[in-house]
Amino acid sequence: MEPKYFFTILFLTTFLSFQLSFSSSTPSAQQNKYSTFIKSSCNSTTYPSQCVKYLLPYASAVKTNPLSLVKVALHTTLRSANATLYTVTQLYKTKSITKWEAAVLKDCIEDIKDTMDELKSSIKEISSIPKSKDKHFAISNAQTWTSAAITDENSCLDGFSDRKVNQAIKQKIRNSIVNLARPIC
Ligand SMILES: *[C@@H]1O[C@H](CO)[C@@H](O)[C@H](O)[C@H]1NC(C)=O
Ligand SMILES: *[C@@H]1O[C@H](CO)[C@@H](O)[C@H](O)[C@H]1NC(C)=O
Repeated sequence: MEPKYFFTILFLTTFLSFQLSFSSSTPSAQQNKYSTFIKSSCNSTTYPSQCVKYLLPYASAVKTNPLSLVKVALHTTLRSANATLYTVTQLYKTKSITKWEAAVLKDCIEDIKDTMDELKSSIKEISSIPKSKDKHFAISNAQTWTSAAITDENSCLDGFSDRKVNQAIKQKIRNSIVNLARPIC
């Protein structure tokens, strides 16, 4: 698994810093325009079609607001992380797992909790932007929090490179983590 899944959010926050200077209000904009905004924002991401698939349902809420788009992407990711936390916690409670597996899963639970905290901090920074005097500083903070979230998400996966962990458990975690990253692909 590669960190590139998460690069989109970094892209989106970078994209945000450009858009802020040009954004204009579009009170009577059509739905079509909103969809185009999502599509063109997703266009330069690593997996444009995945990005569009996960974010297009929010087109009418996002409108053409880059701040809203990034917030929606972060919130969607946070919900996925929460679902992953649930899956991993259930696995951890399974009686049949070995001590090794339990140790790896326990670390993973901590990593996912950290990821969630960092995503929340990133959302907080993004939300502060409209009132912030130094918008670029706030964006940079959001990028830092998002990078930290990527690092923790990957730490969880690194734990599973250990051969002592059952293949089925590895696969279940991998699938779960891939789903976690998907909204911002
Ligand atoms: C996406 O990018 C390609 C070229 O890189 C361009 O031809 C296309 O129109 C873009 N699509 C959107 C929706 O912006
Ligand atoms: C995570 O899921 C639980 C239920 O499984 C829910 O109570 C909680 O509010 C969720 N937290 C987030 C941040 O989505």
